[in-house]
Amino acid sequence: MKLKHLLLCCLFAAVGCTTATTTPDNEIDRKVEELLAQMTLREKIGQMNQVSGGANLCDWAASGDLGSILNCVDPAEINAVQRAAVEQSRLGIPVLVSRDVIHGFRTIFPIPLGMAATFDPAVVEQGARIAAVEATASGVRWTFSPMLDIARDPRWGRVAEGSGEDTYLDVQMGVAMVKGYQGDDYADPTSMAACVKHFVGYGAAEGGRDYNTTMISERALRNVYFPAFKACIDAGALTLMTSFNDVDGLPSTGNSWLLDDILRKEWGFDGMVVTDWNSAGEMIAHGYAEDLKHSAELAVNAGVDMDMMSFGFIEHIEELINEGKIEMQTIDNAVRNILRLKFRLGLFENPYVDEAKAREKVYAPEHLEAAKQCAVESAILLQNNNNVLPLTDAKRILVTGPMANAQFDQLGTWAFDGEEAYTVTPLMALRDDYDVVYEPGLTYSRDTNKAGIPAAVRAAAGVDAVVVCVGEEAILSGEAHCLSQLNLQGAQSELIAELNKTGKPIVVVVIAGRPLTIERDLAECDAMLYSFHPGTMGGEAIADLITGRAVPSGKTPMTFLRDAGQAPFYYNHPMTGRPNNGTETLLNDIPLKAGQTSLGCTSYYLDTGYGPLFPFGYGLSYTTFDYSCITIDKTEYTEGDVIVVEYDLTNSGKVDATEVAQLYVRDLVGSVVRPVKELKGFERVYLKAGETKHCRFELPVAELAFWNRDMEYVVEPGKFQLWVAGDSASGEALAFEVK
Ligand code: NOJ
Repeated sequence: MKLKHLLLCCLFAAVGCTTATTTPDNEIDRKVEELLAQMTLREKIGQMNQVSGGANLCDWAASGDLGSILNCVDPAEINAVQRAAVEQSRLGIPVLVSRDVIHGFRTIFPIPLGMAATFDPAVVEQGARIAAVEATASGVRWTFSPMLDIARDPRWGRVAEGSGEDTYLDVQMGVAMVKGYQGDDYADPTSMAACVKHFVGYGAAEGGRDYNTTMISERALRNVYFPAFKACIDAGALTLMTSFNDVDGLPSTGNSWLLDDILRKEWGFDGMVVTDWNSAGEMIAHGYAEDLKHSAELAVNAGVDMDMMSFGFIEHIEELINEGKIEMQTIDNAVRNILRLKFRLGLFENPYVDEAKAREKVYAPEHLEAAKQCAVESAILLQNNNNVLPLTDAKRILVTGPMANAQFDQLGTWAFDGEEAYTVTPLMALRDDYDVVYEPGLTYSRDTNKAGIPAAVRAAAGVDAVVVCVGEEAILSGEAHCLSQLNLQGAQSELIAELNKTGKPIVVVVIAGRPLTIERDLAECDAMLYSFHPGTMGGEAIADLITGRAVPSGKTPMTFLRDAGQAPFYYNHPMTGRPNNGTETLLNDIPLKAGQTSLGCTSYYLDTGYGPLFPFGYGLSYTTFDYSCITIDKTEYTEGDVIVVEYDLTNSGKVDATEVAQLYVRDLVGSVVRPVKELKGFERVYLKAGETKHCRFELPVAELAFWNRDMEYVVEPGKFQLWVAGDSASGEALAFEVK
C-alpha cells in the first residue's frame, strides 16, 4: 500500500511566476512572434550563436550572426558591440552579454563551497544581488551561475564551485543565488539572468577527474541530482547550461530525454538552454558525433537553443535544414526561447550601459561589508584545543605560511574580474590588532623549498602565539584542476610541525578550494580554522574570528576525509547490508594469520576505518550548544500533515554565538534502498551566552517523498527516524510513522 502524492513535478511549473516581469509574458510572446515572423533563417541561426571576446565581435554583431557574447566586460566594448547589433544589423536585435560571475564580480565573495558553509541563504542571496549590481553596471546581463552539481569527491577541482554533497543544501543555496542575481524584476537594469549548470551529473565524474564519464541511474538523477535544477527553475531561473559529461553513455548536450522530456515537458521550462563551451563540438571527441555538422544536428534536435563556441550551429544549421535533418519548427522554438529571454531582460528597451557609471558601485562599503560577513559565516572551526582561540590575551603574534598574504590566491577560482589589489589578507588585517612579526616560511602553497622554515621557527620564539596560513593557491581547484592526493601541498605540513615544536600556541588557518586531508596537521596544532577561499574581505573576516570580534558558525558542506582514498564519501549514502557498528579492527590490530572472517566483515577500510575526519554539517564555536527537550508533535502522521519538531537550544558557554541547528530524517524501510540520513531543514539560531531558545522545525510529510521502485514520486508509509543536532553524526533518534 503506497501513499501516493501528487506528482508535483508533472504539473507544469509556471516559470517566472515568483518573479515579476515588467512586461507580462503574453505581451512578450506577442513581440517574440512578431519579430520571429520577420527573421530570415540566417538571422535565426545568428541568434543561436554565442561568441567569446577576442573575436571581432562588432563584425559578428553587425552581420546579424551573433546572439550573445561572453568574456567581454569592458563597458565601452560592450556598448560598441551592442551598437553594431542594434544600429547595423538588419533587425537591430541586441546581443546578450554573459560572463562567469561565480562568486562576485569585482567584490569577490567566498567561493560557492564557502558560501554553502554559511548555511545562510540570506547572506548568499545578498552576495548574488551585489554581484549582479556590480556586473550589470558594466553591461553583463547574464551569469553562468549557480553551479548546482552535487559533488561527493573532493579530488574533483570543481567542488569549489558548488554547494557540496547534499541535495537539500544545494536547493537552498541555488535558489538563493537565482533570486539574488535576478532580483524582483527581470527587466530591471541591475537584474542578471541566472544560468543553472551543469545539466547534469557533471560532479559525479568517475574518480573525481574532470570531464570524466558518469554512471547515474535515473532514480539517482531524480532523487539527488535533479532537485536543485527543478527548484531553481521553479524560482524563475531564466537559463540552463548543458554539461560536458555523458551520463550512461549519452553526452548531455545531445540528450533529448534530459533537455526535452524532463526539462521542457516534465518541468515546463520556457527559458533558454545553452551548451557549455564547445560541449556540442566535444561530442566528436566523445565518439558520439561524426563531425561538427553531426554534433550540431544532435544538439539542436536534443533541445539546445544556443551554441557556446563550437560554431557548429552557425556553420551547419542551414545545410541541415535543407537536408531535412532539422525541422524549421525546432529552430523557431530555439529562437523563441532566446528572444523571450532578451525581451524579459528589457534589452530591446535598454541595450546600452552608462560607461561613466560602470565602477560607481564597485567595492561600495556595503558590498565589502556583506562580503566580509559572508566570509565570517563561512569559516569553519575544526579544532580548538584548550580554547586557544580567540587570541584575546596575545599581544605579539607570528603570522606565517604561504597563504598569509596571498592577495591573488585568496580570491579562489573563477574570480576573473576580482582585482587582487583590493584583497585584504590575514596579514594585513591582523596588523591592526596585534604586534605582528611576519615570516612567510614558504612562498607559495606548492613550495617544497624549506629554506625559509628555520626563520619562521626562530621568529616564533619571541611571540605569544603563531598563526600559520596554509592551503591551496587558486589554481589548484576549479575547472580541470583535480588532484589524486589531498594533503597540504609542498612543505606546508613540515612548516606547521616545525612551528609546533616551539611549544607556542599554534593556530592553523587553511585557505583552500576543497576539503583537504588535514588529519596529520590537526595533530600539530592547537586550533584550526578552515576557510574555503574567502575572497576580497577574507583577511578581515579571519582577523575578526581570531580576535574574537566574531565567532565561528560555519559548518562543513562536504564530508572531510582522512585520506583521499576514501572518496567518494558522503554522509547520506544508501544503507549497506553490512553497516559498520563501530567495531572496526584496524591494520595494526589485526593478529598474524587472522582468520578470513575474524574481522567482522563490515563496510570499512582496514587503514582509515569507517568514519570520516569530520562529518557533513560539522563546525565548532567559541561556545558550546546543548540540544534538549526535542519532541515531535505526534508519533503517527498521514498525507498532508506537517511534522512539528520542537527543541530547546542552549548556549552553554560564555560568548554570544550562532549555531546552525540541523534536522535529519531516515526512512527505515523503502521499496528501494534509502539513504542513512537526509538533511531536511536547518536554521541559524543566535543565542546570547547562557540563553535558551525554544525553536521548531516544520516538516511537511510531503517532503519525505522520493522516486521509488516504480519511478513514482511518493511518500511510502512506514517507520522513520528523525534527529535535531549540530551535525550529521550527532543526536538521538526520535521515531515516527507515516500511515
Ligand atoms: C566552461 C565551464 O564548464 C562553465 O562552467 C563556464 O560557464 C563556461 N566554460 C564559460 O566560461
